[in-house]
Amino acid sequence: MTTISDLRSLKGRRFAMLTAYDYPTARILDEAGIPVLLVGDSVANVVLGHETTLPVTMDEMLHHTRAVARGAKDALIVGDMPFLSYQVSDEEAIRNAGRFLKEAGAHAVKLEGPLVELIEKLTGRGIPVMGHLGLTPQSVHAMGGYKVQARTDEEAERLLADAHGLEKAGVFSLVLEGVPAEVARRVTEAVSVPTIGIGAGPHCDGQVLVLHDLLGLTFGTPAKFVKRYADLGAEIARAAQAFKDDVEAGAYPGPEHSYQASPSSRG
Ligand code: KIV
Repeated sequence: MTTISDLRSLKGRRFAMLTAYDYPTARILDEAGIPVLLVGDSVANVVLGHETTLPVTMDEMLHHTRAVARGAKDALIVGDMPFLSYQVSDEEAIRNAGRFLKEAGAHAVKLEGPLVELIEKLTGRGIPVMGHLGLTPQSVHAMGGYKVQARTDEEAERLLADAHGLEKAGVFSLVLEGVPAEVARRVTEAVSVPTIGIGAGPHCDGQVLVLHDLLGLTFGTPAKFVKRYADLGAEIARAAQAFKDDVEAGAYPGPEHSYQASPSSRG
């Protein structure tokens, strides 16, 4: 079982995190030895078909987190707090973060942005928090689109200061998304907790990808940072077509897929 302190001890070592949203993939990824599974709010895009992550609700996130918790026995499970579940008031944020642990089987939560005071309150109440800086998809409209962040010196300094703020507030790790590789290197060297990059170059301690991007289950041209390790979309289409062809040709079900009456029931 990967614990928060195990993860902290991965500072300076390379490790993988993947998103998971359901029982079978959580089980497969867990058995494959992926130490951290993020029930990302990217479920909104890649599973539920929304344009952005904004519409996904607390109840939907808890539903997916429960399924992942049933499938994963060893991985650390991080529940991603959805838009407006932590921005309205600290009291509501604490209650919602607690629900991931109490009702859904997560070991920690992740939230976006430099919310130092809130994160201090959560960690002070025993709720482990993974931070997330750089391109924070819940702020897509404020950012004017999914744009690489911290490209200027001033923005890079701001990111560094925010990372230090989150470190002091007690995050056990920090996702850096959509920032130049050199900026991610500076942050990784500056903070004592593991950084986990996505579109942030090779210098972070860990790397995360959205599972559906890695498996070829997303549509359109993938982002530059995505590496496709499989083409399951094509494989699903091939299997579905083969089933359709067999059914239409009368080749399925064959005798080996059919039940026979028992001798006694024939009288
Ligand atoms: O929701 C998600 O998948 C994420 C990752 C991109 C880190 O937050």
